[in-house]
Amino acid sequence: MSAESTTAGATAAENVALYDADNPAPVIEAPRKRTRKTPRSTRTNFELYGWLFMRLSGIVLVVLVLGHLLIQLVLDGGVSKIGFAFVAGRWASPFWQVWDLLMLWLAMLHGANGLRTVINDYAQRDNTRFWLKMLLYTATVFTVLLGTLVIFTFDPNIR
Ligand code: HEM
Repeated sequence: MSAESTTAGATAAENVALYDADNPAPVIEAPRKRTRKTPRSTRTNFELYGWLFMRLSGIVLVVLVLGHLLIQLVLDGGVSKIGFAFVAGRWASPFWQVWDLLMLWLAMLHGANGLRTVINDYAQRDNTRFWLKMLLYTATVFTVLLGTLVIFTFDPNIR
C-alpha cells in the first residue's frame, strides 16, 4: 500500500504520520493578529480565573437549571400550575429565594463573561470592542440588580 492511500479513511494515529518538519500541519490563525500595541502579558491572572469560573459556574448551573426546569415544567402539574400564587408560594421560602438568586447571578456572570470573550475575539476595531462591552456590562448590571431586587422585595399581597 502506498503512503498516499492512507489519507482516505485513515485513523488519527495514521494521520499524525502525514505531518513532519517538511510537511507541517496547517496553522489555525488567531481571530485577530497581534500588533505592536498588543500588550505582551497582563499583570494579573484575571483571564485564568475567568476561565476557571466558566467551568465551575457551568457545573453548578447544570444542577440549578436542570433542577429548575424539572420542578417548574415536569413535576407536580407541569407548566399549567405556574402563576402568581405559585411564585408567591415559592418565594415565601428562603431556600427557593437563594436558589433563584444563585441561578440569576451565575447565569448572568457566566453569560456575560462568555460574551466578553466572544467580543474580544471577534470585534476588530478598538472602539467597537469598547462600546459592545459597555453595552454588555450595562445590561448585565441592570438585569442582576433588577432581578435581585425583585426576589427580595416581592410582595405576595400586592393585589
Ligand atoms: C447549563 C449549564 C452550562 C454549562 C455546563 C456551561 C458551560 C460552559 C463552558 C465550559 C464554557 C466555556 C467554553 C470555552 O471557554 O470554550 C461556556 C461558555 C459560554 N457560555 Fe455556558 N454553560 C452553561 C450555561 C450557560 C448559560 C445559562 C448561558 C447564558 C446565560 C451561557 C452562555 C455562555 C456563553 C455566551 C459562552 C461563551 C461561548 C464561547 O466562548 O464561544 N452558558 N459555557
